[in-house]
Amino acid sequence: MAKQSWKPGNMLYPLPAVMVTCRGKDGKDNIITIGWTGTVCSDPAMTYVSVRKERYSHAMILETGEFVINLTTKKLAKATDFCGVRSGRDVDKFEAMHLTKEEAQVVNVPMIAESPVNIECRVTEVKELGSHDMFLAEVVAVHADEAYMDEKGRFSLTAAEPIAYSHGTYFTLGEQLGTFGYSVKKGKTGKSGVKSGSKRPNAKKSSGKNSEKDK
Ligand SMILES: Cc1cc2nc3c(=O)[nH]c(=O)nc-3n(C[C@H](O)[C@H](O)[C@H](O)COP(=O)(O)O)c2cc1C
Repeated sequence: MAKQSWKPGNMLYPLPAVMVTCRGKDGKDNIITIGWTGTVCSDPAMTYVSVRKERYSHAMILETGEFVINLTTKKLAKATDFCGVRSGRDVDKFEAMHLTKEEAQVVNVPMIAESPVNIECRVTEVKELGSHDMFLAEVVAVHADEAYMDEKGRFSLTAAEPIAYSHGTYFTLGEQLGTFGYSVKKGKTGKSGVKSGSKRPNAKKSSGKNSEKDK
């Protein structure tokens, strides 16, 4: 196989492009689209966002130590891109994209009501890495839209039509290939035995013992 070798760079795609909301100490609210994000620990649930110092949102997250990750969907694709090419210094992105503010439960940051999942985060460490500062954060609350739950309280993120960002392009997800662990399940391809979703993250009745949690 012939491959070209490139200078070191980031080619870890596809990834979730998320809309991160923040609120400055002056009470101003903002949204920034972030690709450099991910899960870093299951227990405690921890995540990160890497933000360039020059972003308007950078100072807001630094001074409050709080932000919310709002997952994005096909319906939110345009807003996702807009919030990644316009600065809150010049425009109120909530207003421009007709997004609804919803108060978070734990942190003092607005969430995006139209987003199917909102992840409230509190910064535990700021790592200056170079081009970006990494805000390592603990997840302090998660909200999932009941519109995507079945009668048993099972949440289907797929039903919300999440989007991915791959090398400069936004995509919806494609064909479902299998579920967690399907490669070793006896007599199941995973494709036929597909369940639509994992348990509702916040549900009191949830044991939290689903396969996602055990990763
Ligand atoms: C798909 C996408 C992903 C992005 N990922 C990041 C990122 O991880 N970190 C970052 O600092 N900027 C990222 N940006 C750029 C910011 O979202 C953009 O500069 C934004 O206008 C900053 O808004 P603010 O000045 O209101 O904070 C991304 C933009 C797009 C479109």
